[in-house]
Amino acid sequence: MLIFDSGVGGLSILQTIKIVLPNIHYIYFLDNEAFPYGNKTEYFIIQRIISIIKKIKKLYPINIVVIACNTVSTVSVSFLKKKFNLPIIGIFPDIKTAEKITKNNIIGLIATRTTIHSEYIQKLIYQKSFNNIIQIISTNQLALIAEKKIRKIPFAQKDLKSIFKPWINLNIKPDTIILGCTHFLFLKKEIKDTLHLTSSINFIDSRKKIVLDIKNCIYKFNLQQTIKNNIFLYSKHDNYLTKIFIYLKRYQFKKISYINLN
Ligand code: DGL
Repeated sequence: MLIFDSGVGGLSILQTIKIVLPNIHYIYFLDNEAFPYGNKTEYFIIQRIISIIKKIKKLYPINIVVIACNTVSTVSVSFLKKKFNLPIIGIFPDIKTAEKITKNNIIGLIATRTTIHSEYIQKLIYQKSFNNIIQIISTNQLALIAEKKIRKIPFAQKDLKSIFKPWINLNIKPDTIILGCTHFLFLKKEIKDTLHLTSSINFIDSRKKIVLDIKNCIYKFNLQQTIKNNIFLYSKHDNYLTKIFIYLKRYQFKKISYINLN
């Protein structure tokens, strides 16, 4: 199984995969050279992902691709499914579930700019008539903060405040927040604190859905293990990358190595 993201966000998905499918082996590809995807064009993202899958396919016998990134999934999954003869699974902001569980009818959706502007999200939001109000924050800053948190690098509270300003100023705040970027799963506490939420809040992160899709896919295609160890690959070596190595210990990667995509 190949699982990838531009950064650490996908590791939050991998955590859940490891719980549900403890025996599965995986390659995690961290495309830190292109991080953040949230400020890239759809064209760039599609070309980038094609070269990632092609490159890794040449080097390792992968039989399933998990896109642990909402930005990539919303702009490219349908295209990639046609392009590759390989099961491809993505993660998407789950507006439908949020609609079902909101009590005050105010849903918050927070995601990268590319995700919010994707046709997938635009269609969902504007072509449907919702009974609920969707408050949207599109930000490329929050993923950077998550990257810092994992590396234990301090980040400024005022940056969080300015990202969430539109919601801080609301009379009635969302009771249900869709985390439309896998990086944000690491920031639930910070989001709650910044919004001064005292009452319970529902975070929707699509983790269960993507893991269920992977499970179903493995059974449907009777996929067998094709790699024997867990491998961590990255696209750029620098000091900022090495700062996550301590955090990576919990994933028990047997090999950590650089891949040249150019
Ligand atoms: N983790 C990614 C997502 O789910 C993208 C973060 C970024 O590279 O901007 O959207």
